[in-house]
Amino acid sequence: MGLPRIYPDTESLARAAAAHFVSLAGQAVASEGRFTVALSGGSTPRPTYAQLATSELSAQVDWPGVHVFWGDERCVPPDNPDSNYGMARKTLLDHVPIPVQNIHRIRGELEPEEAAAEYELTLREFFSPAPENPAATFDLVLLGLGADGHTASLFPSAAELEEQPRWVVAHYVDKARAWRVTLTPTAINAATQVTFIVSGAGKAETMRRVLSGPHQPDLLPAQIIRPAMGSLLWLVDAAAAGLI
Ligand code: 6PG
Repeated sequence: MGLPRIYPDTESLARAAAAHFVSLAGQAVASEGRFTVALSGGSTPRPTYAQLATSELSAQVDWPGVHVFWGDERCVPPDNPDSNYGMARKTLLDHVPIPVQNIHRIRGELEPEEAAAEYELTLREFFSPAPENPAATFDLVLLGLGADGHTASLFPSAAELEEQPRWVVAHYVDKARAWRVTLTPTAINAATQVTFIVSGAGKAETMRRVLSGPHQPDLLPAQIIRPAMGSLLWLVDAAAAGLI
Protein backbone atom coordinates (compact mmCIF):
# COMPACT_ATOMS: atom_id res chain seq x y z
CA MET A 1 0.00 0.00 0.00
CA GLY A 2 1.71 3.12 -1.24
CA LEU A 3 2.31 6.11 1.00
CA PRO A 4 -0.57 8.61 0.81
CA ARG A 5 -0.07 11.79 -1.18
CA ILE A 6 -0.97 14.67 1.15
CA TYR A 7 -2.29 18.03 -0.09
CA PRO A 8 -2.67 21.22 1.98
CA ASP A 9 -6.43 21.63 1.59
CA THR A 10 -9.58 20.37 -0.16
CA GLU A 11 -9.01 22.61 -3.18
CA SER A 12 -5.50 21.33 -3.92
CA LEU A 13 -6.66 17.77 -3.21
CA ALA A 14 -9.48 18.15 -5.73
CA ARG A 15 -7.11 19.56 -8.35
CA ALA A 16 -4.66 16.70 -7.81
CA ALA A 17 -7.38 14.05 -7.97
CA ALA A 18 -8.78 15.58 -11.16
CA ALA A 19 -5.30 15.72 -12.72
CA HIS A 20 -4.82 12.06 -11.73
CA PHE A 21 -8.07 11.17 -13.56
CA VAL A 22 -6.96 13.12 -16.65
CA SER A 23 -3.57 11.41 -16.66
CA LEU A 24 -4.96 7.87 -16.30
CA ALA A 25 -7.66 8.56 -18.88
CA GLY A 26 -5.06 9.75 -21.38
CA GLN A 27 -2.87 6.69 -20.83
CA ALA A 28 -5.79 4.22 -21.06
CA VAL A 29 -7.36 5.74 -24.18
CA ALA A 30 -3.95 5.88 -25.86
CA SER A 31 -3.09 2.27 -25.01
CA GLU A 32 -6.49 0.52 -24.95
CA GLY A 33 -8.75 2.87 -26.89
CA ARG A 34 -10.93 3.42 -23.83
CA PHE A 35 -10.86 4.41 -20.14
CA THR A 36 -13.16 2.63 -17.68
CA VAL A 37 -13.71 4.34 -14.34
CA ALA A 38 -15.99 3.56 -11.39
CA LEU A 39 -16.91 6.80 -9.63
CA SER A 40 -17.42 7.08 -5.90
CA GLY A 41 -20.35 8.78 -4.25
CA GLY A 42 -20.83 10.78 -1.08
CA SER A 43 -19.65 14.36 -0.74
CA THR A 44 -15.83 14.14 -0.90
CA PRO A 45 -15.51 13.69 -4.67
CA ARG A 46 -17.76 16.66 -5.58
CA PRO A 47 -14.90 19.21 -5.80
CA THR A 48 -12.88 16.74 -7.90
CA TYR A 49 -15.76 16.24 -10.33
CA ALA A 50 -16.26 20.02 -10.49
CA GLN A 51 -12.56 20.47 -11.31
CA LEU A 52 -12.85 17.83 -14.06
CA ALA A 53 -15.81 19.72 -15.51
CA THR A 54 -13.78 22.92 -15.94
CA SER A 55 -12.96 23.67 -19.57
CA GLU A 56 -9.22 23.55 -18.80
CA LEU A 57 -9.25 19.94 -17.58
CA SER A 58 -12.26 18.69 -19.55
CA ALA A 59 -10.52 19.66 -22.79
CA GLN A 60 -7.70 17.25 -21.91
CA VAL A 61 -10.00 14.21 -21.76
CA ASP A 62 -11.11 12.21 -24.80
CA TRP A 63 -14.65 11.85 -23.42
CA PRO A 64 -15.97 9.60 -26.23
CA GLY A 65 -13.39 7.07 -25.04
CA VAL A 66 -14.44 7.32 -21.37
CA HIS A 67 -16.89 4.82 -19.84
CA VAL A 68 -18.26 5.78 -16.45
CA PHE A 69 -19.56 3.31 -13.88
CA TRP A 70 -20.22 3.55 -10.14
CA GLY A 71 -18.63 1.78 -7.19
CA ASP A 72 -21.95 1.84 -5.40
CA GLU A 73 -25.39 3.41 -5.46
CA ARG A 74 -28.15 4.15 -3.05
CA CYS A 75 -31.41 2.41 -3.96
CA VAL A 76 -33.22 5.59 -4.91
CA PRO A 77 -34.35 7.06 -8.25
CA PRO A 78 -31.73 9.02 -10.24
CA ASP A 79 -33.34 12.37 -9.43
CA ASN A 80 -33.24 11.71 -5.67
CA PRO A 81 -30.76 13.99 -3.83
CA ASP A 82 -29.09 10.84 -2.39
CA SER A 83 -28.32 9.38 -5.82
CA ASN A 84 -24.58 8.99 -6.50
CA TYR A 85 -25.39 9.00 -10.21
CA GLY A 86 -27.38 12.23 -9.76
CA MET A 87 -24.49 13.90 -7.95
CA ALA A 88 -21.99 12.93 -10.67
CA ARG A 89 -24.40 14.01 -13.39
CA LYS A 90 -24.91 17.45 -11.85
CA THR A 91 -21.24 18.09 -10.99
CA LEU A 92 -19.58 16.48 -14.02
CA LEU A 93 -21.46 14.49 -16.63
CA ASP A 94 -23.86 17.24 -17.68
CA HIS A 95 -20.84 19.50 -18.38
CA VAL A 96 -18.63 17.26 -20.52
CA PRO A 97 -19.16 15.73 -23.99
CA ILE A 98 -19.41 12.11 -22.80
CA PRO A 99 -21.79 10.03 -24.97
CA VAL A 100 -24.88 8.98 -23.02
CA GLN A 101 -24.25 5.34 -23.94
CA ASN A 102 -20.92 5.56 -22.06
CA ILE A 103 -22.68 6.24 -18.77
CA HIS A 104 -23.45 2.92 -17.06
CA ARG A 105 -25.44 3.79 -13.97
CA ILE A 106 -26.81 1.40 -11.37
CA ARG A 107 -30.59 1.72 -11.67
CA GLY A 108 -31.34 2.55 -8.06
CA GLU A 109 -35.03 2.85 -8.81
CA LEU A 110 -35.28 -0.93 -9.29
CA GLU A 111 -35.73 -3.50 -6.54
CA PRO A 112 -32.24 -3.75 -4.95
CA GLU A 113 -31.52 -7.34 -5.99
CA GLU A 114 -32.78 -6.60 -9.50
CA ALA A 115 -30.56 -3.51 -9.73
CA ALA A 116 -27.54 -5.53 -8.57
CA ALA A 117 -28.22 -8.38 -11.01
CA GLU A 118 -28.69 -5.97 -13.90
CA TYR A 119 -25.49 -4.09 -13.06
CA GLU A 120 -23.52 -7.32 -12.74
CA LEU A 121 -24.77 -8.37 -16.19
CA THR A 122 -23.81 -4.96 -17.58
CA LEU A 123 -20.29 -5.39 -16.21
CA ARG A 124 -19.92 -8.99 -17.42
CA GLU A 125 -21.08 -8.03 -20.90
CA PHE A 126 -18.93 -4.91 -21.01
CA PHE A 127 -15.71 -6.45 -19.68
CA SER A 128 -16.37 -9.94 -21.14
CA PRO A 129 -13.61 -11.26 -18.83
CA ALA A 130 -10.98 -13.57 -20.17
CA PRO A 131 -10.76 -16.95 -18.37
CA GLU A 132 -7.39 -16.02 -16.89
CA ASN A 133 -8.80 -12.78 -15.54
CA PRO A 134 -12.35 -13.56 -14.40
CA ALA A 135 -13.16 -10.13 -13.03
CA ALA A 136 -14.12 -6.68 -14.19
CA THR A 137 -10.85 -4.85 -14.70
CA PHE A 138 -11.65 -1.19 -14.31
CA ASP A 139 -8.80 1.11 -15.27
CA LEU A 140 -9.66 3.19 -12.22
CA VAL A 141 -11.91 2.75 -9.20
CA LEU A 142 -12.38 5.90 -7.12
CA LEU A 143 -13.30 5.29 -3.50
CA GLY A 144 -14.16 7.37 -0.48
CA LEU A 145 -13.74 6.47 3.17
CA GLY A 146 -16.47 6.59 5.77
CA ALA A 147 -15.57 7.59 9.31
CA ASP A 148 -16.53 4.04 10.34
CA GLY A 149 -14.04 2.60 7.88
CA HIS A 150 -16.51 1.64 5.18
CA THR A 151 -15.85 2.17 1.50
CA ALA A 152 -18.21 1.99 -1.47
CA SER A 153 -21.14 0.35 0.31
CA LEU A 154 -19.04 -2.25 2.08
CA PHE A 155 -19.85 -1.61 5.70
CA PRO A 156 -18.31 -3.14 8.81
CA SER A 157 -19.17 -6.85 9.20
CA ALA A 158 -21.06 -6.83 5.89
CA ALA A 159 -21.39 -10.37 4.64
CA GLU A 160 -20.41 -9.19 1.18
CA LEU A 161 -16.83 -8.87 2.34
CA GLU A 162 -16.53 -12.61 1.87
CA GLU A 163 -18.59 -12.60 -1.34
CA GLN A 164 -16.18 -13.96 -3.92
CA PRO A 165 -17.97 -15.00 -7.13
CA ARG A 166 -20.22 -11.98 -7.51
CA TRP A 167 -19.01 -8.58 -8.59
CA VAL A 168 -22.12 -6.73 -7.40
CA VAL A 169 -24.39 -7.24 -4.40
CA ALA A 170 -27.35 -5.47 -2.84
CA HIS A 171 -27.79 -5.29 0.89
CA TYR A 172 -29.68 -3.38 3.56
CA VAL A 173 -27.36 -1.03 5.48
CA ASP A 174 -28.70 -0.81 9.03
CA LYS A 175 -26.68 2.28 9.78
CA ALA A 176 -28.03 4.15 6.78
CA ARG A 177 -31.43 2.51 7.16
CA ALA A 178 -31.38 2.06 3.41
CA TRP A 179 -30.65 -0.46 0.69
CA ARG A 180 -27.43 -0.09 -1.27
CA VAL A 181 -25.94 -1.75 -4.35
CA THR A 182 -22.17 -2.09 -4.30
CA LEU A 183 -19.20 -3.56 -6.11
CA THR A 184 -17.73 -6.40 -4.08
CA PRO A 185 -14.06 -6.50 -3.05
CA THR A 186 -13.56 -9.03 -5.87
CA ALA A 187 -14.57 -6.46 -8.48
CA ILE A 188 -12.71 -3.57 -6.86
CA ASN A 189 -9.50 -5.52 -6.26
CA ALA A 190 -9.35 -6.54 -9.94
CA ALA A 191 -8.89 -2.89 -10.98
CA THR A 192 -5.69 -1.61 -12.53
CA GLN A 193 -5.70 1.34 -10.16
CA VAL A 194 -7.74 2.03 -7.02
CA THR A 195 -7.60 5.56 -5.67
CA PHE A 196 -9.05 6.69 -2.34
CA ILE A 197 -9.85 10.39 -2.05
CA VAL A 198 -10.18 11.39 1.63
CA SER A 199 -10.73 14.85 3.07
CA GLY A 200 -11.35 16.42 6.46
CA ALA A 201 -10.28 16.03 10.08
CA GLY A 202 -13.29 13.82 10.68
CA LYS A 203 -11.52 11.03 8.79
CA ALA A 204 -8.10 11.42 10.51
CA GLU A 205 -8.60 8.72 13.16
CA THR A 206 -10.04 6.30 10.60
CA MET A 207 -7.12 6.99 8.25
CA ARG A 208 -4.73 6.18 11.08
CA ARG A 209 -6.52 2.92 11.92
CA VAL A 210 -6.83 1.85 8.28
CA LEU A 211 -3.23 2.64 7.30
CA SER A 212 -1.30 1.83 10.46
CA GLY A 213 -3.68 -0.04 12.76
CA PRO A 214 -4.12 -3.82 12.96
CA HIS A 215 -5.50 -5.57 9.88
CA GLN A 216 -9.18 -6.05 10.73
CA PRO A 217 -11.16 -5.74 7.47
CA ASP A 218 -14.42 -6.88 9.00
CA LEU A 219 -14.29 -3.77 11.17
CA LEU A 220 -12.52 -1.58 8.60
CA PRO A 221 -13.67 -2.66 5.12
CA ALA A 222 -11.31 -0.14 3.50
CA GLN A 223 -8.52 -2.52 4.55
CA ILE A 224 -9.91 -5.28 2.35
CA ILE A 225 -9.17 -3.13 -0.69
CA ARG A 226 -5.87 -4.50 -1.98
CA PRO A 227 -5.72 -4.61 -5.79
CA ALA A 228 -4.42 -8.05 -6.75
CA MET A 229 -2.45 -6.85 -9.77
CA GLY A 230 -3.16 -3.14 -9.75
CA SER A 231 -1.97 -0.26 -7.64
CA LEU A 232 -3.52 1.49 -4.65
CA LEU A 233 -3.20 5.22 -4.12
CA TRP A 234 -4.42 7.46 -1.30
CA LEU A 235 -4.98 11.13 -2.14
CA VAL A 236 -5.73 12.96 1.09
CA ASP A 237 -5.73 16.49 2.49
CA ALA A 238 -3.65 17.53 5.50
CA ALA A 239 -6.70 17.48 7.78
CA ALA A 240 -7.45 13.83 7.01
CA ALA A 241 -3.75 12.97 7.28
CA GLY A 242 -3.44 14.68 10.66
CA LEU A 243 -2.77 11.44 12.58
CA ILE A 244 -0.69 9.42 10.12
C1 6PG B 1 -21.48 6.57 -0.80
C2 6PG B 1 -20.02 6.32 -1.00
C3 6PG B 1 -19.41 6.09 0.34
C4 6PG B 1 -18.62 7.35 0.64
C5 6PG B 1 -18.22 7.40 2.09
C6 6PG B 1 -17.60 8.75 2.41
O1 6PG B 1 -22.30 6.02 -1.54
O2 6PG B 1 -21.76 7.37 0.11
O3 6PG B 1 -19.75 5.37 -1.87
O4 6PG B 1 -18.55 4.98 0.42
O5 6PG B 1 -17.47 7.38 -0.19
O6 6PG B 1 -19.39 7.21 2.86
O7 6PG B 1 -18.62 9.71 2.24
P1 6PG B 1 -18.27 11.29 2.27
O8 6PG B 1 -17.37 11.54 1.11
O9 6PG B 1 -19.60 11.96 2.11
O10 6PG B 1 -17.60 11.54 3.60
